[in-house]
Amino acid sequence: MSQMAIKAENIWKEYQIRHHFDAQASSLKEILNSPLKRMINNIKGISSHNINEPFWALQNISFEIEHGESVGIIGRNGAGKSTLLKILSRITRPTRGQLTLFEKVNSLLEIGTGFNAELSGRDNIYLNGSFLGMKQKEIKNQFDEIVAFSEIEQFIDTPVKYYSSGMYLRLAFSVAVHLTPELLLLDEVLAVGDASFRQKSMEKMKELLHSGATIIFVSHSDAAIEEICNRVIYLDHGKILSDGPTSQVLGLYQKSINLE
Ligand SMILES: Nc1ncnc2c1ncn2[C@@H]1O[C@H](COP(=O)(O)OP(=O)(O)OP(=O)(O)O)[C@@H](O)[C@H]1O
Ligand SMILES: [Mg+2]
Repeated sequence: MSQMAIKAENIWKEYQIRHHFDAQASSLKEILNSPLKRMINNIKGISSHNINEPFWALQNISFEIEHGESVGIIGRNGAGKSTLLKILSRITRPTRGQLTLFEKVNSLLEIGTGFNAELSGRDNIYLNGSFLGMKQKEIKNQFDEIVAFSEIEQFIDTPVKYYSSGMYLRLAFSVAVHLTPELLLLDEVLAVGDASFRQKSMEKMKELLHSGATIIFVSHSDAAIEEICNRVIYLDHGKILSDGPTSQVLGLYQKSINLE
């Protein structure tokens, strides 16, 4: 019987977005007529206002992902893909809804996060491993493989702040896929890698899937999604527009782009 990896039930995420208004703007008469606001602004010598407006980045998101599945998340810029991955990796909390994770999560959400810039590649590997709850010995066993895969042996003792963005990606990806990747969340991470590393990374992801890992993969590359994922969730303005077999959902997405 299949085993559940993630259950998301009616997830909503609210952010506050700020609007800046010019005090002279006539459309803001109401705000400006507020005596208290006018008084405060007079004291501050400010002739403009900032107001916050609630914005729902995710709306009523529900899905179940089974152990061993490889799920692509697609959608336009701002659709809510990264927000969803941040919720799944518990970097941020949903405003409403329930998330249940049945597996240990390892994520690579943005290049540049997760590493300490002042530390060397070597120290960052150990640091990441310990964040994931691994013992020194366990990390040591994986160390050579991580470095070999990343192909940055020569710079492993250099502080990562001196790495190029591609080198950074190589090490970050290598760490993510070698250290306990039961459930791997990847957000648009291959974009800065060169073609040869991208190919190698795709092969590695397939290998992980063969060995039973669960992968959730956000990408704007239809080719990469097609190669890795057997299921795709299409987000549009924070809502799930479609969730199904890769070719079907990608087709729908492409059609919506072509209609513009
Ligand atoms: N911390 C925040 N505060 C306010 N708004 C936010 C915050 N984080 C994200 N948003 C908004 O939520 C929406 C979804 O953002 P998100 O980063 O999830 O999009 P995305 O689908 O990953 O887009 P892209 O393809 O460009 O990476 C956007 O409108 C964004 O401006
Ligand atoms: Mg994003």
